[in-house]
Amino acid sequence: MILLEKILQSQGFGSRKYCQQLIKSGAVCVENGTIHDLKQKFKPQNLQFSVFNIPYIYREKVYIALNKPKGYECSHQATHHLSVFELFDEILLNRGLQCVGRLDQDTSGLLLLTDDGQFLQALTNPRKHVPKVYRMLLADPIDHEQIETLQHGVELRNEKGVFAATDVIKRAENELQMTIHQGVYHQVKRMLAAVGNKVEALHRHQIGQLSLDDFKENSLEESNWTYLDESQILAAKNQLT
Ligand code: URA
Repeated sequence: MILLEKILQSQGFGSRKYCQQLIKSGAVCVENGTIHDLKQKFKPQNLQFSVFNIPYIYREKVYIALNKPKGYECSHQATHHLSVFELFDEILLNRGLQCVGRLDQDTSGLLLLTDDGQFLQALTNPRKHVPKVYRMLLADPIDHEQIETLQHGVELRNEKGVFAATDVIKRAENELQMTIHQGVYHQVKRMLAAVGNKVEALHRHQIGQLSLDDFKENSLEESNWTYLDESQILAAKNQLT
């Protein structure tokens, strides 16, 4: 059992003092009853509470899928564009939400965010080779030779090793889908440049087992985000072990 003020603080509502003030002012309800007593303790697991009538569920850590729009940078201090963190409220940001890997400013699609440091490190560890599926529009029609070269692997300037794509699918004359297994800077754009083409628009459709299609029911439209459910979190964690 934990003090309510500590629970609120862990969920991003602010300093311990501020959380005490929230409780004292009658802004916090637990299971539909207003709590004024600072000494009351609760079991945090699955605790349902509200602050200023907005309902919340206690989450030890948060795991979020965002359908990132173009024009947003994956950094807290975005310089030339908007930051993806502007798409989240302060309570989540207070928890120390971080992007799991990065997408370029002009790339759209699936981006995971979390405040679980271990998960973040594991998923971004280059040795884990988590597969990522990208769809792209190309400046020139893609030909057989380019596809073969991508599958065979290309070298990228200032990077060690060979970068190959798997599951390369020509979706239309100028449209390609492919899976990559590393995640170096501008990898997809540089791989396509290496075979003599040019990426005009890039979209990430899938990370590991998790695809944007899995969120159809939540209608994960561009700019929208959702919490991963237990099975999606487990699937993401399992592929790391
Ligand atoms: N490869 C790129 O070139 N850009 C991205 O945003 C992701 C992968």
